[in-house]
Amino acid sequence: MASQPSIIDVPSADVSGRSEVQWARKPALPDSQIVNTDIYTDPAIFEEEVEKIWSKVWLPVCHESELPAPLDYRTSGLAGNKPIVVVRGEDNKIRTFLNLCPHRNNLIVRSPAGSLKKAEPSGNPNHMTCMYHGWQFDASGRCVEIPRRAAGYQERICNGDVGLRQIRTEVAYGGMVWVNLDDNCGPLSDFVGKALDCMIEQLDTEPLEIFHYHKGIVRCNYKLFFDTSREFYHDYLHFHNRQTSMIKSGYFDQKYTTYPNGHSVTGFAPPDYTSHTGAETRLLSFPGLPKNGWRHTTLFPASAYNIRTSCLRVNVMIPLSDRETLVEIRGIGLKRDTPEERLQRERDYISVWGPFGWNLHEDLLCAQVQTQAIKPGSGARWNLMARQEDDKVHDEICVRSYYEEWSRRMGRSFVAPR
Ligand SMILES: [Fe+2]
Repeated sequence: MASQPSIIDVPSADVSGRSEVQWARKPALPDSQIVNTDIYTDPAIFEEEVEKIWSKVWLPVCHESELPAPLDYRTSGLAGNKPIVVVRGEDNKIRTFLNLCPHRNNLIVRSPAGSLKKAEPSGNPNHMTCMYHGWQFDASGRCVEIPRRAAGYQERICNGDVGLRQIRTEVAYGGMVWVNLDDNCGPLSDFVGKALDCMIEQLDTEPLEIFHYHKGIVRCNYKLFFDTSREFYHDYLHFHNRQTSMIKSGYFDQKYTTYPNGHSVTGFAPPDYTSHTGAETRLLSFPGLPKNGWRHTTLFPASAYNIRTSCLRVNVMIPLSDRETLVEIRGIGLKRDTPEERLQRERDYISVWGPFGWNLHEDLLCAQVQTQAIKPGSGARWNLMARQEDDKVHDEICVRSYYEEWSRRMGRSFVAPR
């Protein structure tokens, strides 16, 4: 008599892999150390992130030196397809607006950057003019012109009813322009807390100036790419970087520090530039920073300040969808640099890390492949973030801290999000 097939956990006795049931089973680790991969692939969760995270937190959007003169502007975007325009007013104050005309929601300012002093073909100097019907706004967001207003609207609307949507804006931490879509948010300093204290002397002693800008679209979920900047356990991936590392000792003793609101600081061991041909010319620094100094803070939900001796690199992500992210990377130096000093900073900035420079190209490769690999239906279930090594460089404490903040803001568990 043939025996009945039994329900077994393994496909067959001679296979050492796991059965479907075993593969799906939550690993025997604390829930705080396991991420369900649905949070990277579910479009509904992404939409919720836009609403509960990206529309509630302070986000760096550009540097004040990108708008050096009154009436200079810079356009950009925020998660959730929100176009914005940042404008320096005639009073020198920087303000931010949703870049949509309140009449029919056409995009108002269409260039990446420029000056409002130069009139649009259908507008007047010093105004932002919607090309569609010629409504005009001044640099403080007031509507100042509605063509044939009285003829069409009589007294039913006035200019004061149709100003631009103004977005909370602060300029701080090295002259970055920060915005928050939440009109009721607390001040930026409450959000950042002490996470940038480790480099505040470098950021705020004297004016800084942008000297390099690079952007690109990466095909990653923003969290997966951000993970690569907050855990270094993957450093075996970076063969070339390890072979040429300027950190000669203490690598595995580098410590992470986590801060409230999901931010973290990496306590780098100082690099030794003198031992590398070409790098010994790194003679420039920032106020109060040793010539081999390195400061690195990552900020929730996806930006970073990174000072490597002579260059500040501010990295910003703008999620476009659950699997596509715009990355902006700015190189920043001292405003008072001489032309020779600025050239040296630019050389330092480009060398080793290159213009992309937010992590290494292998990081991007892995985060993109990972994003592709875990698509719905792939069988992906769990990401582990369980390494504990006294908060040292292969510990995943920063990743855990980040997802705790994600969970708090989303009102959802990251291990069982649905
Ligand atoms: Fe990396």
